[in-house]
Amino acid sequence: MSMNTFREGFTSGMSYLKRRFSSNDLQGDLMNERTDSTGFSFNLPKRRGPSPSAPSSPSRSTSIQGLTRGLFGSSSSSTQPPKPAYNKDRCKTLLVIDTPNVEWTKYFRGRKLLGEWDLRVEQAEFSEINLAAYSETGTVVDIQVMRNGTKVVRSFKPDFVLVRQHVKDATENWKNIIIGLHYGQIPSLNTFESIYNFLDKPWVVSAAMKIFVWSFFLSRARFPLIEQTYFPNHKEMLVSPHFPVVVKIGHAHAGLGTVKIDNHYDFQDIISLVALSGCYCVTEPFIDSKYDIHIQKIGDTYKSFTRTSISGNWKVNTGSSMLEQIPTTERYKRWADECSELFGGLDMVAIEAIMGKDGNEYILEINDCTMPLLGETQEDDRKLIASLIINKMEANCREEMSKSASISQMSVVNSRPMAGPPGPSPASTAMPMEFDATLAAHQSPMMLNSNQQQQQFQQQQQQHFQLQQQQQFQQQQFQPQQQMSESEVAKDLEDSEDTMKNLRKTFAGIFGNM
Ligand SMILES: Nc1ncnc2c1ncn2[C@@H]1O[C@H](COP(=O)(O)OP(=O)(O)O)[C@@H](O)[C@H]1O
Ligand SMILES: [Mg+2]
Repeated sequence: MSMNTFREGFTSGMSYLKRRFSSNDLQGDLMNERTDSTGFSFNLPKRRGPSPSAPSSPSRSTSIQGLTRGLFGSSSSSTQPPKPAYNKDRCKTLLVIDTPNVEWTKYFRGRKLLGEWDLRVEQAEFSEINLAAYSETGTVVDIQVMRNGTKVVRSFKPDFVLVRQHVKDATENWKNIIIGLHYGQIPSLNTFESIYNFLDKPWVVSAAMKIFVWSFFLSRARFPLIEQTYFPNHKEMLVSPHFPVVVKIGHAHAGLGTVKIDNHYDFQDIISLVALSGCYCVTEPFIDSKYDIHIQKIGDTYKSFTRTSISGNWKVNTGSSMLEQIPTTERYKRWADECSELFGGLDMVAIEAIMGKDGNEYILEINDCTMPLLGETQEDDRKLIASLIINKMEANCREEMSKSASISQMSVVNSRPMAGPPGPSPASTAMPMEFDATLAAHQSPMMLNSNQQQQQFQQQQQQHFQLQQQQQFQQQQFQPQQQMSESEVAKDLEDSEDTMKNLRKTFAGIFGNM
């Protein structure tokens, strides 16, 4: 091949690539392919909010590899999905919902459940997660993750979930994902019930008020929850509070929506913003504070910190501050214990309070498993969370094993020939069908060559299809009973018709033909 011919070929190839990458064609092709082959749609919905871990460009880089391989005929094994190192037959999957800032796999590396189950850790943030939850067979999660600059989709059925990312924030709300995970009865840390209850700060305050009211009889300062007023909207914000007042609009973090108001005029202004926001809001007295207090309880381990503003910002958690670990007093321990009983029990709980210049403490808010970990000990905190999860997953494994043992015993009893009408065995109808999605779990690079893509999507579709079939099968199992009762009705009708015929004959015998 002459140099000119090569150059021409290369230039036209590159301009083709540029054309392709300047549009969303590739994504479109891929989605259609996923939808067409079996009629199932696996299109991942367009995500709201920023998705730093799932930019579109890396998938394009994979496409470049795929297309350049096509152009230059080179084959590379580097794009092959890595072979899983776990035993698929004896493996449990943990889904960690967190930002990519923390790599959770390292806290579980080499760990086995009960010494025999492999532990596979999948990490993604909410924006990368989608799912389908089946009432009979559980939740199948799809996550988009980056692996060595390649965008891959993984489908699997989690056995446990750790939620570390805020479910609701100023601009995002992933409640729909939480519902889907809970729908599949997946155990989690904290429980999904409690996470759901933490979706609105005033809701948590109202629960904490019970602790406050109860402890108030013992001593007002026993659980010093800050005085607060809740407004569902701006309309009732008519009475001017004592100034300065802090207005907290909606449910947000990191100081967002929290405003200090010094006078009546500014209060009017903020009311107009509350109206515009369409959110609820709370007002509370501004406390001139010395420092913030942060008390955390992870499992049975307590830690306390103070945070003092360096930059002079009244919102100590914004701007620069000085963090100091302090001993957890009995008083703080009691606060943490009391709060950890909220919403059916919280494995992880944090209390935020302020120490006023008046020498009094004021509890501002309670956070759940999405609480920030502070200071140099956060590495230990993560190890603690990991061992908490392992304990819980092992307990689940034990429970599962004893259940399956008793079910197999039941099925031995049921398989014995019995007198009576044939019908579905109680074990087969009552027990949810086991669908081991771990076996079908796989990596599916979004932008490999079309054969691989097709194979992978077919696998994925098969997996969902299997689930559907199993559901249909289960539904059919209930039908014989229905059919039997229908046939019984038909037989009843037949019987009564026969009786009528006989009566007619008898009457005909007496009175002649009627
Ligand atoms: N009523 C208040 N009086 C004085 N300071 C407050 C008050 N409420 C909040 N703060 C300060 O503002 C910070 C952020 O408030 P917070 O309610 O915790 O919102 P967020 O959790 O969204 O950051 C707190 O850490 C505290 O330093
Ligand atoms: Mg806070």
